[in-house]
Amino acid sequence: MNVHCLNTYRPGHGLPGSFYTDPEIFAEEQRRIFRNSWFFAGHSIEVAGRGDYLTLDVGGVPVVVVRDQDGGLHAHHNICRHRGSLVCTKEKGRAARLVCPYHAWTYGHDGRLIGAPMMGEGFDKEAHGLKPAHVGEFDGLIFVNLSETPSPFHELRDHLSPVLASQGMTRAKVALIRDYDLDVNWKIVVENNRECYHCEGNHHGYVSVQYDTENDNPALKGEIAERLGECRRRWERAGLDVARVNTSSNNTAEWFRANRTPVRKGMVTESPDGQLVCKVLMAGFTDPDMGTARANTNINFWCHANSDYAHTVRITPVSPTRTIVRAYWLVDENAVEGRDYDPEAIAAFHHQVMSEDWDICRRQWRGVTSPSFEPGPYAPDKEANVDRYVRWYVGRMSA
Ligand code: FES
Ligand code: FE
Repeated sequence: MNVHCLNTYRPGHGLPGSFYTDPEIFAEEQRRIFRNSWFFAGHSIEVAGRGDYLTLDVGGVPVVVVRDQDGGLHAHHNICRHRGSLVCTKEKGRAARLVCPYHAWTYGHDGRLIGAPMMGEGFDKEAHGLKPAHVGEFDGLIFVNLSETPSPFHELRDHLSPVLASQGMTRAKVALIRDYDLDVNWKIVVENNRECYHCEGNHHGYVSVQYDTENDNPALKGEIAERLGECRRRWERAGLDVARVNTSSNNTAEWFRANRTPVRKGMVTESPDGQLVCKVLMAGFTDPDMGTARANTNINFWCHANSDYAHTVRITPVSPTRTIVRAYWLVDENAVEGRDYDPEAIAAFHHQVMSEDWDICRRQWRGVTSPSFEPGPYAPDKEANVDRYVRWYVGRMSA
């Protein structure tokens, strides 16, 4: 690890430019962060049936997540214990057994090697199962952790679940998945996600639906207080957890956070005009005005779940200069495409916000990769969450 780089970091400021481009730093991040944290893998509904699997890259390691015959979930390194071929080659599928396409070594859903043709009598199948990874699942979200000593999964679950459990993501279906392949470092994407200092100037659609940018606007102080009070009372009666109902996106835990926020008065969901984009509400809601349940992790995940659809994001760093952002849009399992919703209309709001963010990221990328880049200071309140994120990151990289 290039220690010199960490020495040039000034707390309260952005990271030095080399943190966005240096392959050595990227390799350290893969090791210290992505192979050593709870990484958002996908949705439970993507592997709902027995034998359903999905594959993904976690910190440079091919991983397969698979549902067994009893409904249990397993995660394994998707690397054959014979000569290292990928075992599952598709992004998603269903298989009674996991069969390596190279020489047909065959594994059970639990990763045990159950067939290895012509390996002879003395061959120890027990010792050649797929390497296991830790997997955790709650409220329709799947996280994997490649560490041998993972941080307790319940810390993440216990914090996010009170906010997300009511959103019906376990009884949903995927309306749309879209991959954004970006030629920028993954931290540029996450840092941008941690503040709304840029919203006023760049996200006119977002600002027209949310209160994020108005918390310090005296003209809206009364409206926000009234809206919060009214929503809290109504949501509590509907059985929602209202302990974290607010219009701030302040961090509420060390590397993850969750809260519920109302959308603007007269609006009910995150859509271009604030009105429903799916006629069937999620989670059995009867009242469409349930705000947005938001959550994120410092690693690779964020979520905006509304009454009629949920939007989630999985970030996969590919190289120092390339990041794939997978966006999901979920609707209730009973919603019918064409009758109750149009996937493009469901995606319109966040697709617009992300497209604006990617333009921001690309412009910033031109500067931070230039030899004359010098990181500036964060705004005290408006960028407090970016500062927290960067301090957390530096801590992880220097521990
Ligand atoms: Fe998988 Fe040979 S590499 S069976
Ligand atoms: Fe943005």
